[in-house]
Amino acid sequence: MVAEALRAFSEATTVAELKQARITHTGDRSPLALANREIGALPPEAKREVGKRMGQARGRVNQALKERETEISAAELERRLAEEKVDVTLPTELVTQGAVHPVPAVMDLMSDIFVAMGWEIAEGPELEAEWLNFDALNFIPDHPARTMQDTLFIDPPEHNLLLRTHTSPVQARSLLTRELPVYVVCPGRVYRADEYDATHLPVFNQIEGLAVDKGITFGNLRGTLEHFARELFGQDMVLRWRPSYFPFTEPSAEVDLLCFNCHGTSVGDPDNPCRMCKSEGWIEWGGCGVVNPRVLEACGVDSSVYSGFAFGMGVDRTLMFRNNLSDLRDTVQGDVRFSRSLVGGA
Ligand code: PHE
Repeated sequence: MVAEALRAFSEATTVAELKQARITHTGDRSPLALANREIGALPPEAKREVGKRMGQARGRVNQALKERETEISAAELERRLAEEKVDVTLPTELVTQGAVHPVPAVMDLMSDIFVAMGWEIAEGPELEAEWLNFDALNFIPDHPARTMQDTLFIDPPEHNLLLRTHTSPVQARSLLTRELPVYVVCPGRVYRADEYDATHLPVFNQIEGLAVDKGITFGNLRGTLEHFARELFGQDMVLRWRPSYFPFTEPSAEVDLLCFNCHGTSVGDPDNPCRMCKSEGWIEWGGCGVVNPRVLEACGVDSSVYSGFAFGMGVDRTLMFRNNLSDLRDTVQGDVRFSRSLVGGA
């Protein structure tokens, strides 16, 4: 019995064959198991002797089975390793890859400058309440920016919903929902019924900033935007501040960047026209100002204790100047070659 089992084990060459041999020679109906069952019927002395021999026999069989199992699985592993060998020198097919789109890439870059200063990222919906887009921001009811020409309203009009025309409603949302002081930036998509050409898109991106704390002044705004511009465009970037008007800031300003292309040299020189700044010497970057106390009050903030500044910069425009693009439409046409050409550059 034992010799037969050992032979069957050594003849098995695969896991499956060994399993079969194991069932045949050690299973419930194997000769060994059957003989083992007979022991119970033997007289007591014989029982001891036979039981001992039977135990030894079963021990040898099980030992042989275990050894053969180890041998076979080692051999199978060897065989698999040999069969599945990978030739890393074989030529591969080229896989075309996408690329990070430059607009979100530059958006992240801009946001990160503020995150590094401890500001938080705030978000708001693109489908916005008219109240937050305009009323809370001190736009009078018949302000021209509300009219159909600029703003894309949603039907039916009584729902008072629109596609946000700027990221400034997130100022109101942040003041209404956050604990003071507030330091947030909000990058996001905005919509205006604008023409679609090389320098205008009806859907574009802004990054809004809002700081509300005790004792905030225009000086803080200036220092912050100068730091922002220098981190983004280089330490030698020069800014120009022009007085302006926004209903939600007072005083307000527009910030210009010294032209990346002619550095101001095209101004007053008809022989040296600059396509980037149209020979103005400066490029408009965004609007900003000290938060109008009416906005603070509309959002439940005590304007006798707190003050703030806000700004809103065009992200697509920033990318355009920074990477010397000539046509904003390239950013929405989905040609991966455009994205690839700016990878690492954005
Ligand atoms: N929301 C303004 C715009 O879209 C920009 C702005 C933001 C101005 C914050 C002042 C303060 O033109």
